[in-house]
Amino acid sequence: MRNSYTYLRLFAVGILLSILNSCSQNPGQPHPADRVHSIPEAYPLPDSLRNPNGFERDRMTLGQKLFFDKRLSADGSISCASCHKARYAFGDSSSFSRGMAGYATRRNTPPLFNLFRQIRFFRDGGVARLSEVALSPMNEAHELNLPIDTLVRRLRTLPEYVREFDKIYNRLPDPFTITQALMGYQLSLLSASSRYDQYRYQSDSTALSPAALRGMRLFFSDATHCRSCHTGPDFTDGLFHRNGLTDAGRPDTGRARISMSWGDYARFRTPSLRNLSFSAPYMHDGRFNTIPEVLEHYNRMYQKMEPITLQSDLPQIGRELSVEELRDLSAFLEHLNDSIFVNTPADPTQ
Ligand code: HEC
Ligand code: HEC
Repeated sequence: MRNSYTYLRLFAVGILLSILNSCSQNPGQPHPADRVHSIPEAYPLPDSLRNPNGFERDRMTLGQKLFFDKRLSADGSISCASCHKARYAFGDSSSFSRGMAGYATRRNTPPLFNLFRQIRFFRDGGVARLSEVALSPMNEAHELNLPIDTLVRRLRTLPEYVREFDKIYNRLPDPFTITQALMGYQLSLLSASSRYDQYRYQSDSTALSPAALRGMRLFFSDATHCRSCHTGPDFTDGLFHRNGLTDAGRPDTGRARISMSWGDYARFRTPSLRNLSFSAPYMHDGRFNTIPEVLEHYNRMYQKMEPITLQSDLPQIGRELSVEELRDLSAFLEHLNDSIFVNTPADPTQ
């Protein structure tokens, strides 16, 4: 008798806990881990993201809450999501984002997706681990301006966070658990549900328009050599190159800032070409507003009309493309847009 009473009590506590638990996430909003369901089985993904366990799922929800929480900035005015906006593929629509008190960032905010495959972070590869990236905007006076030790003290005064860190990590918020939770959420930002992915990973030969098919052949051909840097499942080799930009206006040492080698001056990490229609403007300083402008840049480089102040890594064998070919190339790039990715509700407070 006593035993069954105890069970009943445990059961009631269980229900109460699960109600409390579901309060931390907006009901009706998809769980971040569920993004994976729209991604073709054949797209290469680590097992922990294809089938995340309960711990991973909880960590993602907590990281999501932190990512969107403006209490992560000194004056409570901005969050990670103020610069990494879901509708712009977790990038920004202006060349330079605004941090605390309206200060502009020094580089264009990169979109965030498929970060599990990335081996170095920032456009110059200055940070080697995803978990450590968050420390940088926290420390930066022009961004969140709330160093991690101050943030730890702040989160420890907020019962909702104390409860959730305790549930998931069995300890108080600290630098390790905060950065791990943020990393967990960012790893859930998976994007591979484009028309190209249907074509490539689901063998749907009708998913690309005739123009996009012609553009794809050009992209992978010796006429353009785009594939020599934009390669692999996410269209990047993860390495640092000069793609023929002049350093007019705002000189940026690029990779040389990290490697201390002048040979790396103004080399930047090859960006992915997924979701371009959402993540304009382009390049490390957002100097181009449209895809046709970018393609024109490459075309001028291939014609060698651009006044070259920096020796580029572009292959010398590319040829000038016709207006029709440029249009086809644009059509191909547009088929790399994943509208499911940008339209999935992401802000847990809305
Ligand atoms: C004020 C705007 C701003 C805020 C706030 C901000 N970021 Fe960023 N983020 C940037 C910019 C700009 C870069 C590129 C820096 C560079 O390349 O030097 C960047 C880079 C990154 C990268 C590397 C992406 C890549 O492709 O290399 C990650 C990951 C990231 N931020 C996550 C976060 C997280 C997590 C937060 C919150 C803790 C955050 N950011 C807050 C502007 C911002
Ligand atoms: C030598 C390596 C290399 C080759 C070849 C190359 N790219 Fe790039 N591409 C880059 C690098 C590096 C950047 C980023 C430069 C920066 O951040 O300033 C870039 C940027 C871009 C961007 C802007 C993406 C963004 O998010 O800002 C597009 C679009 C693009 N390339 C398309 C192409 C196409 C199409 C071709 C073939 C015509 C091509 N690239 C050939 C290295 C290359």
